[in-house]
Amino acid sequence: MDSKVTQLRHQAETEIAAVTTQQQLEEFRIKFLSRKGLIASLFDALRSVKPSEKPALGRLLNELRAHTQGLYDHKAASLESVPKRRTPMDLTLPGRRSYLGSKHPLSQTLDEIKSIFVSMGFGIADGPEIEDDYHNFEALNFPPNHPARDTQDTFFLSDKNALLRTHTSPVQIRVMEKHPPPVRIIMPGRVYRNEAISSRSYCVFYQVEGLFVDRGVTFSDLKGTLVSFIKQFYGSGLKYKFRPTFFPFTEPSADIYITCFVCGGKGCKLCKQNGWLEILGCGMVDPNVFRYVGYDAEKYTGYAFGMGVDRIALLRYGIDDIRLFYENDVRFLNQF
Ligand code: DAH
Repeated sequence: MDSKVTQLRHQAETEIAAVTTQQQLEEFRIKFLSRKGLIASLFDALRSVKPSEKPALGRLLNELRAHTQGLYDHKAASLESVPKRRTPMDLTLPGRRSYLGSKHPLSQTLDEIKSIFVSMGFGIADGPEIEDDYHNFEALNFPPNHPARDTQDTFFLSDKNALLRTHTSPVQIRVMEKHPPPVRIIMPGRVYRNEAISSRSYCVFYQVEGLFVDRGVTFSDLKGTLVSFIKQFYGSGLKYKFRPTFFPFTEPSADIYITCFVCGGKGCKLCKQNGWLEILGCGMVDPNVFRYVGYDAEKYTGYAFGMGVDRIALLRYGIDDIRLFYENDVRFLNQF
């Protein structure tokens, strides 16, 4: 029995030295250390040995098992420290290019509009895109069932009173509800309309709203500010005109047009042959709106305006389809 132990010990030592893979290591374990392995079978044989020899032999076998386990553990640790699989490195491959992101053309246009108004003393405010009827319509002097509501192509949400705001004008109401006059702010943001989608109109777009309320604000303040904006944004040589129109929340109201910068006013596809492009709506805040927000309409007057950003961006970058702004195709966005 003694010699069998010594022999097994040598066998284990030789075989562990030849192990180079996890699979061989596992085979070694099964062969020597498992419950049906060579060492276990020697323990089985111990039962048939004379009682007087059992203690010494038992000690010897325990020692053999510990030694073999040690050989196994040592090999397992050394196999793990070798990386399992080396990815071969191909030094002839060209390097990977990293791409720099760019600012979305709508953000660039918005940034420019904001910086012009901020330089003229306007602050910036925003409001929720999910609105209620009161802020989107009622407090802006759209009476219930008034036909002007139909012009807005509203997306109503399942909660009867909730809707996606159709314009940024409700932010005027929210700001005036919170702040006493004077206020001088612009309110950029996203708005939603349930319109037929085409290259010229989309269900989502951006507007910039403006509001200035103080004592003694007049239409000439409106005109001075907006003409100054137009000259800074579109260029000082441009012709512009104000044309009377109707908005429920302003009185009097006007649309501002500039000469078409594609054809210089001669008439083209873009300006629908009339030489002018409408760029914003504006007017003096209707006293009814002041009543809704608790401003004293006898003391204060103000002007408001609103412009669509997408159309401006289309025109300035010569883009022919508004949907490109919302598809996030990097081949398009990379160009800006
Ligand atoms: N809310 C209007 C629209 O979406 C735009 C507008 C026109 C806003 C005149 C104003 C304004 O503040 O005074 O069509």
